Amino acid sequence: MIIAIDGPAAAGKGTLARALADRLNLAYLDTGLLYRATGHAVLRAGGDPADPVTAEAAARALSPADLDDPDLRTEAAAAAASAVAALPAVRAALLDVQRAFAARPPAGRDGVVLDGRDIGTVVCPEADHKLFITATLETRARRRFLELRDKGVDAIESSVLHDMVDRDARDSSRRVAPLVPAADAFVLDTSDLSVHDALAAALAYVRKRQ
Ligand code: C5P
Repeated sequence: MIIAIDGPAAAGKGTLARALADRLNLAYLDTGLLYRATGHAVLRAGGDPADPVTAEAAARALSPADLDDPDLRTEAAAAAASAVAALPAVRAALLDVQRAFAARPPAGRDGVVLDGRDIGTVVCPEADHKLFITATLETRARRRFLELRDKGVDAIESSVLHDMVDRDARDSSRRVAPLVPAADAFVLDTSDLSVHDALAAALAYVRKRQ
Protein backbone atom coordinates (compact mmCIF):
# COMPACT_ATOMS: atom_id res chain seq x y z
CA MET A 1 0.00 0.00 0.00
CA ILE A 2 1.25 3.50 -0.83
CA ILE A 3 -0.25 6.55 0.91
CA ALA A 4 0.72 9.99 -0.43
CA ILE A 5 0.29 13.00 1.84
CA ASP A 6 0.84 16.54 0.58
CA GLY A 7 0.15 20.04 1.81
CA PRO A 8 1.70 23.32 2.95
CA ALA A 9 4.03 23.80 5.94
CA ALA A 10 2.64 23.07 9.41
CA ALA A 11 -0.72 21.79 8.16
CA GLY A 12 -0.30 18.60 10.20
CA LYS A 13 1.08 16.26 7.51
CA GLY A 14 3.92 14.83 9.58
CA THR A 15 1.79 14.10 12.64
CA LEU A 16 -0.87 12.46 10.50
CA ALA A 17 1.65 10.48 8.43
CA ARG A 18 3.33 9.09 11.55
CA ALA A 19 -0.03 8.15 13.08
CA LEU A 20 -1.20 6.43 9.87
CA ALA A 21 2.11 4.59 9.57
CA ASP A 22 1.70 3.38 13.13
CA ARG A 23 -1.92 2.26 12.68
CA LEU A 24 -1.46 0.58 9.31
CA ASN A 25 2.06 -0.87 9.83
CA LEU A 26 3.63 1.27 7.11
CA ALA A 27 7.15 2.70 6.78
CA TYR A 28 7.26 6.50 6.79
CA LEU A 29 9.41 8.90 4.76
CA ASP A 30 9.34 12.63 5.52
CA THR A 31 10.49 13.87 2.10
CA GLY A 32 10.90 17.46 3.38
CA LEU A 33 13.94 16.17 5.26
CA LEU A 34 15.64 15.33 1.96
CA TYR A 35 15.27 18.94 0.78
CA ARG A 36 16.22 20.30 4.20
CA ALA A 37 19.35 18.12 4.36
CA THR A 38 20.34 19.24 0.85
CA GLY A 39 19.85 22.94 1.66
CA HIS A 40 21.62 22.56 4.99
CA ALA A 41 24.63 20.82 3.41
CA VAL A 42 25.01 23.67 0.91
CA LEU A 43 24.79 26.31 3.69
CA ARG A 44 27.32 24.43 5.83
CA ALA A 45 29.79 24.39 2.95
CA GLY A 46 29.32 28.16 2.57
CA GLY A 47 27.49 27.76 -0.78
CA ASP A 48 24.36 29.34 -2.26
CA PRO A 49 21.28 27.05 -2.07
CA ALA A 50 19.96 28.63 -5.30
CA ASP A 51 23.05 27.51 -7.27
CA PRO A 52 22.00 24.44 -9.31
CA VAL A 53 25.45 22.80 -9.61
CA THR A 54 26.30 23.00 -5.89
CA ALA A 55 22.79 22.01 -4.82
CA GLU A 56 22.56 19.01 -7.17
CA ALA A 57 25.95 17.73 -5.94
CA ALA A 58 24.72 18.05 -2.33
CA ALA A 59 21.50 16.17 -3.16
CA ARG A 60 23.42 13.33 -4.82
CA ALA A 61 25.86 13.08 -1.88
CA LEU A 62 23.13 12.68 0.81
CA SER A 63 23.40 9.68 3.10
CA PRO A 64 20.73 8.38 5.52
CA ALA A 65 22.71 9.70 8.52
CA ASP A 66 22.37 13.27 7.13
CA LEU A 67 18.62 13.10 7.81
CA ASP A 68 19.11 12.80 11.58
CA ASP A 69 20.69 16.23 12.12
CA PRO A 70 18.53 18.28 14.58
CA ASP A 71 19.58 21.49 12.74
CA LEU A 72 17.34 20.42 9.85
CA ARG A 73 14.33 21.63 11.87
CA THR A 74 15.47 25.27 11.94
CA GLU A 75 13.79 27.99 9.89
CA ALA A 76 17.15 28.62 8.12
CA ALA A 77 17.15 25.01 6.91
CA ALA A 78 13.50 25.39 5.82
CA ALA A 79 14.31 28.46 3.73
CA ALA A 80 17.36 26.75 2.16
CA ALA A 81 15.17 23.67 1.48
CA SER A 82 12.63 25.79 -0.34
CA ALA A 83 15.41 27.36 -2.49
CA VAL A 84 16.99 24.02 -3.52
CA ALA A 85 13.49 22.57 -4.06
CA ALA A 86 12.88 25.01 -6.92
CA LEU A 87 15.81 23.51 -8.91
CA PRO A 88 14.84 20.77 -11.42
CA ALA A 89 18.23 18.97 -11.06
CA VAL A 90 17.76 18.67 -7.29
CA ARG A 91 14.19 17.40 -7.67
CA ALA A 92 15.34 14.81 -10.22
CA ALA A 93 18.12 13.59 -7.90
CA LEU A 94 15.74 13.25 -4.94
CA LEU A 95 12.99 11.66 -7.04
CA ASP A 96 15.07 8.48 -7.40
CA VAL A 97 15.54 8.20 -3.61
CA GLN A 98 11.81 8.67 -2.96
CA ARG A 99 10.67 6.24 -5.67
CA ALA A 100 13.13 3.59 -4.46
CA PHE A 101 11.69 3.91 -0.94
CA ALA A 102 8.10 3.64 -2.25
CA ALA A 103 8.93 0.62 -4.42
CA ARG A 104 10.57 -1.45 -1.66
CA PRO A 105 9.08 -1.08 1.82
CA PRO A 106 11.40 -2.34 4.58
CA ALA A 107 10.84 -5.99 5.57
CA GLY A 108 7.90 -6.49 7.91
CA ARG A 109 5.95 -3.42 6.73
CA ASP A 110 2.76 -3.54 4.68
CA GLY A 111 3.60 -0.49 2.59
CA VAL A 112 4.72 3.12 2.83
CA VAL A 113 3.48 6.58 3.59
CA LEU A 114 5.38 9.55 2.14
CA ASP A 115 4.66 13.16 2.97
CA GLY A 116 5.75 16.26 1.09
CA ARG A 117 4.54 18.68 -1.56
CA ASP A 118 4.43 16.60 -4.77
CA ILE A 119 3.97 13.00 -3.63
CA GLY A 120 0.49 12.48 -5.11
CA THR A 121 1.23 14.49 -8.25
CA VAL A 122 4.83 13.55 -9.21
CA VAL A 123 6.60 11.06 -6.92
CA CYS A 124 3.81 8.47 -6.58
CA PRO A 125 0.96 9.42 -8.93
CA GLU A 126 -0.12 5.75 -8.73
CA ALA A 127 -0.47 5.88 -4.90
CA ASP A 128 -3.42 3.89 -3.53
CA HIS A 129 -4.55 6.78 -1.33
CA LYS A 130 -3.83 10.51 -1.64
CA LEU A 131 -4.46 13.08 1.05
CA PHE A 132 -3.99 16.82 0.76
CA ILE A 133 -3.74 18.27 4.26
CA THR A 134 -4.34 21.95 4.71
CA ALA A 135 -5.22 24.55 7.37
CA THR A 136 -5.61 28.32 7.43
CA LEU A 137 -2.43 30.38 7.32
CA GLU A 138 -3.08 31.71 10.83
CA THR A 139 -3.55 28.21 12.26
CA ARG A 140 -0.37 26.95 10.61
CA ALA A 141 1.70 29.92 11.76
CA ARG A 142 0.36 29.54 15.30
CA ARG A 143 1.23 25.82 15.36
CA ARG A 144 4.75 26.43 14.07
CA PHE A 145 5.23 29.29 16.56
CA LEU A 146 4.15 27.08 19.51
CA GLU A 147 6.37 24.26 18.25
CA LEU A 148 9.38 26.60 18.18
CA ARG A 149 8.53 28.00 21.60
CA ASP A 150 8.29 24.47 23.04
CA LYS A 151 11.77 23.81 21.69
CA GLY A 152 13.02 26.90 23.49
CA VAL A 153 13.48 28.91 20.27
CA ASP A 154 12.85 32.62 20.72
CA ALA A 155 10.44 33.26 17.81
CA ILE A 156 8.01 36.08 16.97
CA GLU A 157 4.64 34.87 15.75
CA SER A 158 4.28 37.59 13.10
CA SER A 159 7.65 36.75 11.55
CA VAL A 160 6.87 33.02 11.59
CA LEU A 161 3.70 33.90 9.66
CA HIS A 162 5.61 36.14 7.27
CA ASP A 163 8.23 33.41 6.55
CA MET A 164 5.40 30.96 5.96
CA VAL A 165 3.72 33.24 3.41
CA ASP A 166 7.05 33.50 1.53
CA ARG A 167 7.65 29.76 1.60
CA ASP A 168 4.06 28.92 0.55
CA ALA A 169 4.36 31.36 -2.36
CA ARG A 170 7.69 29.85 -3.49
CA ASP A 171 6.42 26.28 -3.16
CA SER A 172 3.14 26.99 -4.98
CA SER A 173 4.50 29.11 -7.83
CA ARG A 174 7.64 27.19 -8.85
CA ARG A 175 7.62 25.72 -12.34
CA VAL A 176 8.62 22.16 -11.38
CA ALA A 177 6.33 20.14 -9.13
CA PRO A 178 4.45 23.07 -7.53
CA LEU A 179 2.35 22.49 -4.42
CA VAL A 180 -1.12 21.62 -5.77
CA PRO A 181 -3.60 18.95 -4.70
CA ALA A 182 -3.71 15.92 -7.04
CA ALA A 183 -7.03 15.84 -8.91
CA ASP A 184 -7.93 12.62 -7.07
CA ALA A 185 -6.77 13.68 -3.58
CA PHE A 186 -8.98 13.77 -0.49
CA VAL A 187 -8.61 17.33 0.85
CA LEU A 188 -8.67 17.57 4.64
CA ASP A 189 -8.65 20.94 6.42
CA THR A 190 -7.27 20.41 9.93
CA SER A 191 -7.84 24.01 11.17
CA ASP A 192 -10.60 22.94 13.55
CA LEU A 193 -9.62 19.30 14.03
CA SER A 194 -7.74 17.68 16.88
CA VAL A 195 -4.96 15.23 15.96
CA HIS A 196 -7.32 12.42 16.96
CA ASP A 197 -10.13 13.69 14.67
CA ALA A 198 -7.78 14.26 11.73
CA LEU A 199 -6.51 10.68 12.07
CA ALA A 200 -10.09 9.36 12.26
CA ALA A 201 -11.02 11.24 9.07
CA ALA A 202 -7.93 9.98 7.23
CA LEU A 203 -8.51 6.37 8.36
CA ALA A 204 -12.17 6.57 7.29
CA TYR A 205 -11.07 7.75 3.83
CA VAL A 206 -8.51 4.94 3.47
CA ARG A 207 -10.86 2.21 4.73
CA LYS A 208 -13.80 3.32 2.59
CA ARG A 209 -11.66 2.78 -0.50
CA GLN A 210 -10.22 -0.64 0.41
O1 C5P B 1 7.81 19.75 4.72
P1 C5P B 1 8.99 20.64 5.06
O2 C5P B 1 8.60 21.95 5.64
O3 C5P B 1 10.01 19.93 5.85
O4 C5P B 1 9.68 20.93 3.62
C1 C5P B 1 10.70 21.87 3.49
C2 C5P B 1 10.69 22.40 2.05
O5 C5P B 1 11.09 21.36 1.15
C3 C5P B 1 9.33 22.85 1.52
O6 C5P B 1 9.05 24.20 1.81
C4 C5P B 1 9.44 22.62 0.03
O7 C5P B 1 10.06 23.72 -0.59
C5 C5P B 1 10.40 21.45 -0.08
N1 C5P B 1 9.73 20.18 -0.38
C6 C5P B 1 9.38 19.93 -1.69
N2 C5P B 1 8.84 18.73 -2.04
C7 C5P B 1 8.62 17.78 -1.10
C8 C5P B 1 8.94 18.04 0.25
C9 C5P B 1 9.48 19.27 0.59
O8 C5P B 1 9.56 20.78 -2.54
N3 C5P B 1 8.12 16.61 -1.49
